[in-house]
Amino acid sequence: MAYIYKAAVIGGGTMGGGIAQVVSHSGLPVIIKDISQDAVDKGIEAAREVYASRVKKGKMTQHEMDQKMALITGTTTYDDFDDVDLVIEAVTERMDVKKAVFAELDKVTPSSCILASNTSALSISELAASTGRPDKVIGMHFFNPAPVMKLVEVIPGLETSEDIINDVMDFTTSLRKLPIRVEECAGFLVNRLLMPFFNEAVYAAQEGAASMEVIDAAVTAAGMPMGPFFLADMLGVDICREVQHVLYEEYGLRMAPATLLERLFEARRFGKKNGAGFYVYNDASETFVAEQIAAVQAETGITGTPFSFDRLLLPMINEAAYALQEKVASPNDIDIAMMAGAGMADTSGPKGPLQIADEMGLDVVLAKLEGLHRVLGERFRPAPLIKRKVRAGHLGVKTGKGFKEYAASLETV
Ligand code: CAA
Repeated sequence: MAYIYKAAVIGGGTMGGGIAQVVSHSGLPVIIKDISQDAVDKGIEAAREVYASRVKKGKMTQHEMDQKMALITGTTTYDDFDDVDLVIEAVTERMDVKKAVFAELDKVTPSSCILASNTSALSISELAASTGRPDKVIGMHFFNPAPVMKLVEVIPGLETSEDIINDVMDFTTSLRKLPIRVEECAGFLVNRLLMPFFNEAVYAAQEGAASMEVIDAAVTAAGMPMGPFFLADMLGVDICREVQHVLYEEYGLRMAPATLLERLFEARRFGKKNGAGFYVYNDASETFVAEQIAAVQAETGITGTPFSFDRLLLPMINEAAYALQEKVASPNDIDIAMMAGAGMADTSGPKGPLQIADEMGLDVVLAKLEGLHRVLGERFRPAPLIKRKVRAGHLGVKTGKGFKEYAASLETV
């Protein structure tokens, strides 16, 4: 077990600042490094705001906050990197930029230092290959807002050593987060399942199936913590679009990005961070999205398709089946990751997509997917594993076996 006494975060954006707050909260010194002092200051300020809110709510004292904030230092150079034990990179989501950062880190950190990336969807193995220590490169994917969401996906690259994986799992636990090991694949686990849900919401809005407000309300009424448009505006429309493209490139037609998402991206409607996304937070055009919806409908001729919460949920369940069939994670880990990383729930409380599918009945899931496939096309082609389960009579809770196994009391075994 490698001891981690000092950490660094590269990138003072929303995620970088949040991750630095999480690390400092565990009592560890952490450096925030960015290329401009302004960006460094923003990262430190983001961490300060989280602590200040906790002080205001009486959850910690001002003295405790000062002690935690004293653990965070900011820099625009690599001068203090000669004794860091772990670096978490959280820079812009571009492979060329990340590779350049990893190549620099390889030079300025001790050879024993673990190099982790908070990438949302890019290849860990490719990043690792840009260093001389691929055995010490790993994905450590936090979820937004990092100070709140419990999950960290731990993603080994092809050459990451088992020792480093174990160290990072232990380190994540020491941050009071929940580490889940995920086999490397495009989008890893949570984004791979969440983005088809979001993308389908964009299709539904674009095709006039329902308004963004109605879709967001339907999703929260179903128990989820946030509607998809509200969530995308919080995460960044640009980030969602980038992840959707990575998924499309890897998995093909079932991940084809909705045109409306492209239109928002092209217009730089990135969400809350720059004042307007699907919704408007400044004086940007209130009618932009409606105009784009009308334009896309005129171009495609597709309008008036049906809306139901199932239309969004089924692509997520289907993708969970693909991920399971590829052994990206176990059934329990898939459900826990979606609960801890994206607040997944139904009206009865936290619940993952495989559990929801098992309760619905896999024969019902399959029939619904086939129905939506007939009407809406390739995004709904059922995953082979679902068909296989249905053929075997593994229909979920009602037969005691589905994606998971159930005892007579309906408890998950
Ligand atoms: N930063 C820091 N803390 C925040 C915060 C933020 N941006 N937003 C909320 N909080 C804190 C609040 O201060 C509050 O703290 P206390 O419990 O100490 O009082 C707590 O979170 C709960 O907040 P609220 O009561 O205001 O609101 P809520 O109950 O609706 O919870 C939420 C907010 C946790 C964000 C919840 O809505 C949620 O889980 N949303 C889903 C978020 C999600 O899906 N994230 C993952 C997206 S995918 C991703 O991140 C990966 C990627 O690569 C793109």
